[in-house]
Amino acid sequence: MRLDKFLSHTGFGSRKEVKELLKKKRVTVNGDVIKEAKYSVDELSDCICVDGDNIMYEQFVYYMLNKPKGVISATEDPSARTVVDLIKKEDYKKGLFPVGRLDKDTTGLLLLTNDGALAHELLSPKKKVPKVYQALVQGKMTDEDIDIFSKGEIRLDGEDCLPAKLTIVSFDEEKKQSVIQLAIMEGKYHQVKRMVSAVGKKVIELERLEMANLKLDKQLPRGKYRVLTEQEKEMLKNNE
Ligand code: URA
Repeated sequence: MRLDKFLSHTGFGSRKEVKELLKKKRVTVNGDVIKEAKYSVDELSDCICVDGDNIMYEQFVYYMLNKPKGVISATEDPSARTVVDLIKKEDYKKGLFPVGRLDKDTTGLLLLTNDGALAHELLSPKKKVPKVYQALVQGKMTDEDIDIFSKGEIRLDGEDCLPAKLTIVSFDEEKKQSVIQLAIMEGKYHQVKRMVSAVGKKVIELERLEMANLKLDKQLPRGKYRVLTEQEKEMLKNNE
């Protein structure tokens, strides 16, 4: 890989900014000062330093996105905006994709990565990765619904859903609307909406709060993303 590309990918700014760094003799490769932008480096074995600090190449990126409404969970689409379109050019990496799908009108936690192995682990139905959603529901969710969901008595796509934990957060008597949280361990198409519909109520708003042990960062505005912290990455990988 070219040295300027490596430095740009590891957070040292645009190619133009990187050129300045090189000109100022701040970059060494295996101990030698290198000033040429197109100098070829092996990002995995060369010792590349800026101001004496060794720069590690991160092959994978992990972004937590607070998905807004109106964008689709795909890498590309001929007409609609996708979650990948929300990622700035300098943060984009080849192979970046959303881990799982949220509906166009669903908001909240979405992980984007180019780490296919981790995504596979998180999406495999066998792993039963928990996901927690919060929903505004038209109608009164009841203790009976809690029971039905916990016993896995909802049938979707010709099979019983796995047991799911329903928590009724509040009920607005006037509007006849409930706020609920639902923890599910699978990812059937429109699962939360269809489960709620199966007990005669309707989801009006849906937000994902958690996936595996990753929690939506409440400080993260809708439509924005940030890199996962080292701790979050470790937790996800070790499934702690
Ligand atoms: N369940 C749904 O109905 N929609 C989503 O986007 C996610 C889970």
